[in-house]
Amino acid sequence: MLLKKFSFSLRHFATIFTYSSIPKHGLLCYHKIHKSKLSSVARGKFNTLTSKDIEFFSSLLGSSGIIQNVEELDSYNVDWMKSHKGKSSLALRPRTTEEVSEILKYCNKQILAVCPQGGNTGLVGGSIPIFDEIIVSTSLMNKVIHFDDNTGVLQCQSGSILETLENFANEKGYTVPVDLGAKGSCHIGGNISTNAGGLRFIRYGSLHGNILGLKVVLPNGEILDCMNTMRKNNTGYDLKHMFIGSEGTLGIVTEAAILCYPKSTETAVAFLGCNTFQDVLSTAKMVRQMLPELLSSLEMLDNQSADTLRDNLKLTVPIATHPFYVLVEISGTDAQYNEQKLNECLSLLMEKNHISDGTIATEPSRIKAIWSIRERITEALLKEGHGYKYDISLQLSDFYKIVEVMRERLGQKVTRCVAYGHLGDGNLHFNATSRTFDPEVLALIEPFIYEWTSERKGSISAEHGIGYKKRDYLHYNKTNEAINLMKSMKALIDPQGILNPYKVLP
Ligand code: FAD
Ligand code: MLT
Ligand code: ZN
Repeated sequence: MLLKKFSFSLRHFATIFTYSSIPKHGLLCYHKIHKSKLSSVARGKFNTLTSKDIEFFSSLLGSSGIIQNVEELDSYNVDWMKSHKGKSSLALRPRTTEEVSEILKYCNKQILAVCPQGGNTGLVGGSIPIFDEIIVSTSLMNKVIHFDDNTGVLQCQSGSILETLENFANEKGYTVPVDLGAKGSCHIGGNISTNAGGLRFIRYGSLHGNILGLKVVLPNGEILDCMNTMRKNNTGYDLKHMFIGSEGTLGIVTEAAILCYPKSTETAVAFLGCNTFQDVLSTAKMVRQMLPELLSSLEMLDNQSADTLRDNLKLTVPIATHPFYVLVEISGTDAQYNEQKLNECLSLLMEKNHISDGTIATEPSRIKAIWSIRERITEALLKEGHGYKYDISLQLSDFYKIVEVMRERLGQKVTRCVAYGHLGDGNLHFNATSRTFDPEVLALIEPFIYEWTSERKGSISAEHGIGYKKRDYLHYNKTNEAINLMKSMKALIDPQGILNPYKVLP
């Protein structure tokens, strides 16, 4: 529907592919795996698997619960970015908290290293084994346990796929507070363990606020029941927070209680073209000020991201070419009110020349088509060859400067330098690509980008976590005292270091 007073060019969306879930195992292509820096660490003093161990796991989980077939294992050993291939010869697929407990009890006793894995969509090498760690996958732990219609609290197993939970909540008139491009594959347990941010952060905030309770299995097999469905519960240390964002290094999350919110019935998405980054900032400011009660997403992409979509996925933006694009989503309960407020805001943006073209969608299929432009950039970049991916938080005044600095620094050594991200919460995704891995390019980017970000008090990992790829850079955001305390917590909870070794901590 064209918002009446608004004179934007509305085009047909025939060229836009609708978003489809990213296949979990379909994108792997092993000849492209780049070893890069991922083989520089020494294997810990863990035992190796024996036939006795396999016997134990087989008797515990049955044949459907253990994977030893080499081809099948490949998809568990390789990360989404295809940047590393682990050497695990065993993936376990428990169905219950108790089975996870038995697995970890046994591994701790036998000193066998374990890598917890959800949907394996992580982008920092946290979800795949570095050596021969046993993979504990939550893929069969996908049951909804309870839904409270009065409060919107959804209790489920940690292997539930995010999109499945969203559909479930939608049927009850609710929505899950986290949404991301990998929703068709990622698990809520993976989201919790990475403290995933995503596209709704601006409205619902962090999972630290929206996860009310957790059940976690500790490395020694003990079940830590921090399940809670109350909004308010100030009873001493809130231990669940230790597991939100600790990337599987302290425990395996098996169940969660998620606070869902009443679903807005009326949504509209505006896709706007800006000529300068200053216009992007002015647009963002005005949208926030004029639509405070309606704004549910505020995202941006540059034209180099749009070029990548066009070249690699044949996906085109629905407006005239601009250096920058801003995606605004508003959600409420009254379509007319939405229309009026959005019209007022966009008219003023046009009047002030902060935007010079745009289109609006209110129909679900067109909203989805516009969203796919933003959500599929990651996939488009993957097709380019090797990706150098960065996920940083910056003050908005610094937000796009780093991209210009990096373009200058990298010149023709890369095939692309693109940026997109969660403008509403200051989270920039800077990505460079080359046909194959080039150590010279990597050396030009790292540690420079982390130093640059840290000097400006930004975060070197806004939402993807530290995993394996960034562990050597943790000190750019954490003091020595903080890192030492993190190490002490790890030693206390996992004295043998069996759980997700080589990750997060330097
Ligand atoms: P995995 O990748 O399997 O694991 C991630 C980490 O969590 C690993 O360290 C793993 O060991 C640990 N882990 C997994 N499950 C458990 C568990 N049950 N208990 C303990 N530890 C566990 N991220 C964002 O934050 N925002 C985005 O907008 C976003 N968009 C993305 C778009 C695309 C196309 C892709 C490919 C990725 C995107 N990501 C994004 C990154 C990724 O999807 C998230 O980090 C997601 O939360 C990972 O979930 P997962 O189930 O795939 O976890
Ligand atoms: C996104 O916002 O699209 C994701 O975090 C993935 C990425 O950084 O490419
Ligand atoms: Zn993101």
